[in-house]
Amino acid sequence: NSSVTSIKLVLLGEAAVGKSSIVLRFVSNDFSENKEPTIGAAFLTQRVNIGEQTVKFEIWDTAGQERFASLAPMYYRNAQAALVVYDVTKPQSFIKARHWVKELHEQASKGIVIALVGNKLDMIENGGERKVAKEEAERLAEEEGLLFFETSAKSGENVNEVFLGIGEKIPIK
Ligand code: GTP
Ligand code: MG
Repeated sequence: NSSVTSIKLVLLGEAAVGKSSIVLRFVSNDFSENKEPTIGAAFLTQRVNIGEQTVKFEIWDTAGQERFASLAPMYYRNAQAALVVYDVTKPQSFIKARHWVKELHEQASKGIVIALVGNKLDMIENGGERKVAKEEAERLAEEEGLLFFETSAKSGENVNEVFLGIGEKIPIK
């Protein structure tokens, strides 16, 4: 079957939560300890098979640094899916994630599929302190109708599942 469904997807979240690292893991199955902050935004694509269907993700990886905040609407406006990423060891990044979810519901396309993603799970597994309770994030996801995942771009844990979850929730054209 040659039909390919494209999904325009945007990543949003505070600086340094690991947006680009999640994309690098998904697209290249790789990780870098000293990834440079994104400037503006980066565009990448990746194809995956979901059941009988080939899905091509067209990914806009936005910059989290505050000086780029005004660019975000350009990238989420036409998106069919969004990953709102926070760092499970950084409470401020979860507050920022709440703001992104609110903004997407107010400004993005009506049917946008949003996944809330708590990244850097490996830090907890390696003795670091969890600062965002899983239950709190699950509650937000339930209230706002979001998919929810905890991931590690470093180990790769749950990263593919985020994209598969998005792919399964978007109706095939
Ligand atoms: P901006 O582009 O500035 O918005 O940042 P970003 O959200 O794209 O973060 P980036 O992927 O550049 O990662 C920031 C730092 O966190 C880098 O040093 C990464 O190596 C590190 N990092 C990203 N994901 C993980 C993870 O899952 N675990 C650990 N331990 N470190 C991570
Ligand atoms: Mg980045």
